[in-house]
Amino acid sequence: RKPRVVAIAGSTRQNSVNHSLIKALADLAADRLDMIVYEGIGSLPSFNPDHDGEKVDASVAEFRQLLRTANGLLICTPEYARGVPGSLKNAIDWTVSTAEFPHKPTMLITASTDGTYGHRALMETLKALEAKNIENLQLVIQHAKTKISADHTITDEGTLSAVEELLARFVQTINDHKIE
Ligand code: FNR
Repeated sequence: RKPRVVAIAGSTRQNSVNHSLIKALADLAADRLDMIVYEGIGSLPSFNPDHDGEKVDASVAEFRQLLRTANGLLICTPEYARGVPGSLKNAIDWTVSTAEFPHKPTMLITASTDGTYGHRALMETLKALEAKNIENLQLVIQHAKTKISADHTITDEGTLSAVEELLARFVQTINDHKIE
């Protein structure tokens, strides 16, 4: 079967550019990757180590189980107030103790107005979690609303070619990693 990628958008907004971007990526890679979008970050409880014992909330258990089945992870996110959106960081915090990220090829695209601050912070987080090959699988798309349309197409040519190059590298990393 095709490698499975779990995609997470860092925005829970209805007409999110980042949701559109994930769908565009899923279409572009449809022949190479089986992309599953996790829509639940907004429903996870606030992370609390006291609630991270043997019994966790069902939504957390389900999220972790989905991540375990993934050969690779994709995160597309905006920046809020020059930082990582709280609901995305909260979801990632739930993966720290059970280590779903480590050594999985992870691709990060920050699609925002600016995005550089949040991107830098999230890169540090993903490096701390030992996401595989993250340095080579990341991109910032600035002024994203003018480059990605609501019907899931990347309308800016430069962005499209950067994204295609990134996707090819992602697929390669996932396939190399599966053989190891
Ligand atoms: C933003 N936005 C934003 N953009 C940015 O590049 N740097 C920032 O610091 C912020 N801060 C910020 C705060 C809040 C509260 C909101 C609502 C928005 C704009 C943001 O990039 C833009 O709305 C994106 O389109 C959001 O991504 P989605 O929801 O379209 O995926």
